[in-house]
Amino acid sequence: MASPVLETHGLVKTYGHAESEFQALKGITTQIWNAESVAVVGKSGSGKSTLMHLLALLDAPTQGSIVLSGQMTSQLGAREFSQLRNETFGFVFQQFFLNPQQTVLENVTLPLKIAGVSKAERNRRGMETLEQLDMAEKAKNKATTLSGGQKQRACIARALINDPTVIFADEPTGNLDTATGEIVEDILFDLHARRMITLIVVTHDEDLAAKCQRRLIMQDGQILREERGVTP
Ligand SMILES: Nc1ncnc2c1ncn2[C@@H]1O[C@H](COP(=O)(O)OP(=O)(O)OP(=O)(O)O)[C@@H](O)[C@H]1O
Ligand SMILES: [Mg+2]
Repeated sequence: MASPVLETHGLVKTYGHAESEFQALKGITTQIWNAESVAVVGKSGSGKSTLMHLLALLDAPTQGSIVLSGQMTSQLGAREFSQLRNETFGFVFQQFFLNPQQTVLENVTLPLKIAGVSKAERNRRGMETLEQLDMAEKAKNKATTLSGGQKQRACIARALINDPTVIFADEPTGNLDTATGEIVEDILFDLHARRMITLIVVTHDEDLAAKCQRRLIMQDGQILREERGVTP
């Protein structure tokens, strides 16, 4: 945990223009350490998803900077930028739907396709990852035929396929029943512990937040305070 994997300096995000302008982030300076688990918590509208999108390089800040593994991200070209994002991050976002027309295997291996990996190698790694999540028998199913928990596991498989350094999860258990939610949580924390993957989770679930090593409590576009330690 010695070096930060992500650092932000005075991150500001403003949406809209003129009278409709809204500052969703009001200058966030923080670090995410390598291999740690961090929960981002706070009321609805406090800026959690906005912060997550900026950290994940899915959106650009209005002001301020993001440093990824020591590299100033604003200095990267567009191709370098998307390549770095594809290689470094895995996403488990509720709004990142699976493509219903494609099979589970096709959905899960999409990041490899983007990276230009051959089909044979994609399928080999896809099946390996689906097996880890106990989803191998669903590989040929269309994504629409899966249950909620299976969909979420397919999303996790897709997030893992590139062997990411950081997994971003926005309400990973929000749509799931308690039992299925716990299975998904266990998978995420197991990956964090065994593969030293940095886990950044946005959640309203206090139990899930308590399992993280650190919590960033957000209010009105700012980090109000931080809490450390896992609550047993
Ligand atoms: N595209 C957008 N255009 C205008 N305002 C936006 C946009 N996206 C977010 N906002 C506003 O920015 C603020 C922060 O939104 P954000 O989605 O980050 O909140 P959140 O903490 O993730 O909330 P929730 O817990 O409800 O998901 C909100 O007031 C929201 O209305
Ligand atoms: Mg949100």
